[in-house]
Amino acid sequence: MKIGIIGSGLVATTLGSGFLKHGHDVALGTRDTTKLADWAKENPEGRVLSFSETAKFAEVVVLAVKGTVAADALRAAGQANLAGKIVIDATNPITEAPPVNSVLNFFTSHDDSLMEKLQREFSSARFVKAFNSVGASCMVNPQFKGGKPSMFICGNDDAAKKTVTTVLDQFGWETEDMGSAEAARAIEPLCILWCIPGFRNNDWVHAFKVLR
Ligand SMILES: NC(=O)c1ccc[n+]([C@@H]2O[C@H](COP(=O)([O-])OP(=O)(O)OC[C@H]3O[C@@H](n4cnc5c(N)ncnc54)[C@H](OP(=O)(O)O)[C@@H]3O)[C@@H](O)[C@H]2O)c1
Repeated sequence: MKIGIIGSGLVATTLGSGFLKHGHDVALGTRDTTKLADWAKENPEGRVLSFSETAKFAEVVVLAVKGTVAADALRAAGQANLAGKIVIDATNPITEAPPVNSVLNFFTSHDDSLMEKLQREFSSARFVKAFNSVGASCMVNPQFKGGKPSMFICGNDDAAKKTVTTVLDQFGWETEDMGSAEAARAIEPLCILWCIPGFRNNDWVHAFKVLR
């Protein structure tokens, strides 16, 4: 697939290399292409474009920017370039405030989520929450003694979630579909939980698994 990743940070570059490894065609989007010079050197098959060029290029968009500017980045990408497309939303609504006793602060409430806000504004795009509740270093084919970890996803479009499940199969995850976009109210805060061992004990290599 043609994957357009909006972002230049650790998530964007890690997923970009991961999608290339799995045979996809990849563009990364940024406001400042010089930020991605190293990635471009290490990934010569990948492209580095603007936000709007990336969204236009993509069959599947990945949103990997700071949560506080997620809507701005999508506005720059352009409503028309997103229409009908799957948007894999890896963002978290983390505020600029420092963590309190290792607990991150969110700008959303328990009754709304960042992904729902984005789905409302960009109503013709098909958002699927994924990749938000694990660190970038564990996103692509992580190897854990306990076996395949679980990736929680949600979104309103079943076909979009099916496509994302195929991606997660390639990336070495078991998919746990939590239903419609409202489930992002539960999935986004998993990021807070995931980060606590990191801030407390510098333990950043772990993932969630559902046991039945
Ligand atoms: N880091 C992780 O391990 C991890 C794991 C799971 C989920 N997440 C989530 O994934 C997202 C990306 O995280 P990250 O650590 O890779 O990167 P990040 O530092 O959170 O975000 C970097 C991106 O934000 C964009 N950005 C910053 N200010 C902007 C503005 N005013 N307008 C438009 N875009 C702006 C930058 O665009 P330019 O390229 O144009 O500068 C850059 O692409 C975040 O929401 C984070 O919570 C992170």
